[in-house]
Amino acid sequence: MHNEIEIKQLIGESELAQRIRQIGEQISKRYEGKQVHLICVLKGGVFFMCELAKRITCDVTMDFMVVSSYGGGTQSSGEVNIIKDLDETIADKNVIIVEDIIDSGRTLKKLYELLLDRKPANLEICTLLDKPAGRVAEVFADYTGFTVPNKFIVGYGLDYDQKYRNLPYIAVVE
Ligand code: IMP
Ligand code: MG
Repeated sequence: MHNEIEIKQLIGESELAQRIRQIGEQISKRYEGKQVHLICVLKGGVFFMCELAKRITCDVTMDFMVVSSYGGGTQSSGEVNIIKDLDETIADKNVIIVEDIIDSGRTLKKLYELLLDRKPANLEICTLLDKPAGRVAEVFADYTGFTVPNKFIVGYGLDYDQKYRNLPYIAVVE
């Protein structure tokens, strides 16, 4: 039951699964014989990271982080507050930040700089969705699942007022 707002499917389950499998293969090739440390930005990135991790064939370790970027409104402020920091050090690790979506890019740009300061061996960005029309800060993903239109997206981890994260597909809020 989705009262008040209308939800329209944009990317289906099998399309998501197929694309995530491809990204998994790409990462597996790139880091063959090495270990990758995936960092999930909660909560949005969690569905994607779980699925992606299963498609990577090299050794994978994982950690989780919670940051807040929206000061209550619908636009990210450009300030990133760490609500929950990583449990482990990332020094000398092959780190991949796993995000749900890059919109303005402000959150990820700050997060990238913050993590780079901790001297990982390598730092990459993997995002399920990219909304290039919203870009304000310069940030480039090394792996992108899908490019989406400049609309509000929900499902597969992405929320609208904390709801709809559990949709097994990606949808647009009309
Ligand atoms: P940015 O700093 O504007 O790139 O915002 C990034 C964060 O805002 C993402 O990690 C999402 O959590 C959230 N976000 C941006 N666009 C959407 C959307 O269309 N639907 C749901 N969440 C979004
Ligand atoms: Mg997010």
